[in-house]
Amino acid sequence: MTQPVVTANETPRCEGRLGGEPCGTEREVDPQRVREIAEKHRLGRGPVIAILEEIQADYGHLPERALRLVSEETGRSLADIYGIATFYRAFSLEPKGRHVVCACLGTACHVRGAPAVVEELERQLEVTAGGTTASREFTLETVNCLGACALGPVVVVDGRYYPRVPKSKVADLIDTVRIGVDASGAAQLQRLFPVGVSCPHCHESLSDEAFAFDGSPSIRLRASYAGQSGSLWLSALYGCHRSSSERDIPARAVVQLGCPHCQAELTDSWICPECEAPMASMAVDGGGTVRICRRNGCTSHMLDVT
Ligand code: FES
Repeated sequence: MTQPVVTANETPRCEGRLGGEPCGTEREVDPQRVREIAEKHRLGRGPVIAILEEIQADYGHLPERALRLVSEETGRSLADIYGIATFYRAFSLEPKGRHVVCACLGTACHVRGAPAVVEELERQLEVTAGGTTASREFTLETVNCLGACALGPVVVVDGRYYPRVPKSKVADLIDTVRIGVDASGAAQLQRLFPVGVSCPHCHESLSDEAFAFDGSPSIRLRASYAGQSGSLWLSALYGCHRSSSERDIPARAVVQLGCPHCQAELTDSWICPECEAPMASMAVDGGGTVRICRRNGCTSHMLDVT
């Protein structure tokens, strides 16, 4: 599952093409076309988030030098870039380990044994919560809720959700991360899991098999902002934040989310615990509700299957 990030348009595209020519084809640069592209990105803030995400993926954090370069390249003030980098919890100005382990100590996870899980993580990794191992292999963090309370204790490693982690499985989890999640084949440790959702008004499925993320059908919604509407596709894998939208929507903008079938707004009385924007809710197949923050770029989402 994901949040209504409508920042960078993630429609599959080839980095080496402008205007539809295949990669590797030498094509005369059209200055007007290039100016149009630059102007489009200059007006929106979403592309800055995409740039920062990639820098963080490369360096493990956002070095000051990189922020200055982003400011020069985008023409945005350093204060503006810094504001975006510090607004979203997904970004870090401090170097982190190669793997980031984030354990939830919120109430629901706490009563299901999260403190013992954190203690075991500290023991296995030989680092206290909030720290990074001397080898810079792991950073261990704790948070007060990861939005999947019914599945606690929850641990997120490098963005992958591991629900119902018992203390006895912590060593396996760390081994899995060290070996490489995809190479380990550790089936007993669940990670990203798909969530099927439908409109709470017309009960039509919101699954879109024609647009997949990571092999799973996406969730298609109608996103509206500033009088314009378009499709928004979200990853159906809970904990995955991939998304794609038909329209450019500025970072931090709060969008309206609706059902593409009956057009009803997916409103909710909940307020995002991270950024205080209103949330939208969808019905989970089999029972329950999933809520997502309507602010572009906020990764907050909650799954309640109780
Ligand atoms: S309390 Fe742990 S996910 Fe909400």
